[in-house]
Amino acid sequence: MNLILMGMPGAGKGTQAEQINEAYNIPHISTGDMFRLAIKEGTDLGKQAKDFMDQGELVPDEVTIGIVKERLSKDDCKKGFLLDGFPRTIAQAEALQELLTDINETIDYVVHVDVPEEKLLERLTGRRICPTCGTAYHVAYQPPEVEGKCDKDSAQLIQRDDDKPETVKNRLAVNLKQTKPLLDFYQDKGYLVTVDGDQEVDQVFKDIQTKIEK
Ligand code: AP5
Ligand code: ZN
Repeated sequence: MNLILMGMPGAGKGTQAEQINEAYNIPHISTGDMFRLAIKEGTDLGKQAKDFMDQGELVPDEVTIGIVKERLSKDDCKKGFLLDGFPRTIAQAEALQELLTDINETIDYVVHVDVPEEKLLERLTGRRICPTCGTAYHVAYQPPEVEGKCDKDSAQLIQRDDDKPETVKNRLAVNLKQTKPLLDFYQDKGYLVTVDGDQEVDQVFKDIQTKIEK
């Protein structure tokens, strides 16, 4: 199955991606995670992405399209893939379309996780992540068993640099302007399914399953 997860920053794409990945065993390809790893490792890609991410702006299309192209050419994507956070602009969506045509693949579903805008700021500023395994928690909604520690490996949880309120506001504005138009793009092509993301994590996942197993 070839899936794209869409939704505003903080809608729960990463959280749902983890469940989809476990249930369907398809690789989870998150451009945000790829950039964060590159920054951590100090690679050229990380240097190119860092300033944009710190300001809540999008990394330039040519950089982002390049890394997705490389990732989708890997063998594990032959059994399907789950794109999270890509595409985010019409130019990226068009490039993806071309890329998939070249490798004889198509998209099965674009899953839009819909959360009211007023909930997003709180979700993002309350998020804490594990620097070791990447699991996301929330101080109020998804707290770890022991405060401040990852359930899986006990690492000290941290806040993402771009989850500070000023940066979050810009990320939301950038998304409304550049990424929201993609919903119409995929609606017109007949790929779009929407789930209510303002419910318990497990219920959101059940709703996704119902829509993609139709
Ligand atoms: P990216 O990492 O993709 O961030 P994002 O889209 O802003 O999304 P988030 O990771 O913030 O949120 P999410 O929807 O995954 O929510 P989560 O599950 O964590 O991108 C970061 C940056 O990288 C961009 O700003 C850009 O600079 C760059 N970038 C990435 N892709 C790019 C591209 N294609 N082109 C150009 N630039 C790109 O959940 C959020 C919180 O809510 C958590 O605390 C979680 O515990 C909680 N939560 C989740 N589900 C629920 C629920 N159902 N109920 C209550 N709380 C919940
Ligand atoms: Zn961890």
